[in-house]
Amino acid sequence: MATEGWALITGASTGIGRELASIAAADGRDVVLVARNAARLEQAAEEVRAASGVRAVALPMDLAEPGAPERLHAATGERGMEVDFLVNNAGFGMSRRFADVPIAVQRSMIGLNLSALAELCHLYLPGMLERGRGRILNVGSGAGYVPGLGFTTYASTKAFVLHLTEGLAGELAGTGVTVSVLCPGPVNTPFLGTAGIEGFSGIRRLALADPGSVARAGYRGALKGKVVINPGFFPRLVPFVPRLLPRFAVRWLGRQVGRQMARRTG
Ligand SMILES: NC(=O)c1ccc[n+]([C@@H]2O[C@H](COP(=O)([O-])OP(=O)(O)OC[C@H]3O[C@@H](n4cnc5c(N)ncnc54)[C@H](OP(=O)(O)O)[C@@H]3O)[C@@H](O)[C@H]2O)c1
Repeated sequence: MATEGWALITGASTGIGRELASIAAADGRDVVLVARNAARLEQAAEEVRAASGVRAVALPMDLAEPGAPERLHAATGERGMEVDFLVNNAGFGMSRRFADVPIAVQRSMIGLNLSALAELCHLYLPGMLERGRGRILNVGSGAGYVPGLGFTTYASTKAFVLHLTEGLAGELAGTGVTVSVLCPGPVNTPFLGTAGIEGFSGIRRLALADPGSVARAGYRGALKGKVVINPGFFPRLVPFVPRLLPRFAVRWLGRQVGRQMARRTG
């Protein structure tokens, strides 16, 4: 039997989102899981139910589609689910030059990483504010601090997530509702294959985090109402880059990393 309200986790079938679903369920929350692949999502829901005994409901949906956030909000409303913990985790990137990323992919990336995330915050906030309690955890990235990096659109969407969260956190002060942004460095999940940046070897493997520890840091940070969560040693250093370097040097760094990435991905 759950002790808390519902947690809604987007991108809950694999990687960081899958871990967050298990952690929230183990903490006594009923969970709503969202992703596109229905079979994989239902399997994740079954595993969560079996491990924690909470209610775990799979709502398969492509959140990059226009109108999807409203449909999701309506679906949870129809089922009488009070969402007290919203995790905007679904997202993807593609490591290629901007001009070489097809427009349909750009649209989908902006639609998912940016528009759907902002819309879901907007849709679920009124209920949380009315009840005087709620947590929102937006999954950003260390890439949100530096432009370029070999995936210009992706890094830009994550800069939006960082700014949106920090702005919103100021607006929500004293309401009982908190919003946090989790900014990981590279994490060992299927994201790397989708983005085309696999092949972390040698010293680079040291920078690769495991999704469980990133998810735990995110969950704990969100419960504490921490605004920005930089999980791990390297991610904690990244915010200093734009703080300590002049803007031209930050751009230079982003360009160098991008060039290196282009050489590695061919
Ligand atoms: N891994 C990293 O290195 C890293 C670093 C920093 C930040 N992040 C961020 O962490 C978040 C989670 O990434 P991850 O590493 O856990 O990646 P992942 O394992 O690829 O998980 C992505 C999840 O999002 C779902 N998803 C993808 N497109 C979707 C769509 N259009 N509508 C609904 N769901 C969708 C996927 O399931 P379906 O394919 O079935 O839809 C999957 O459940 C992302 O926001 C990512 O940007 C990742």
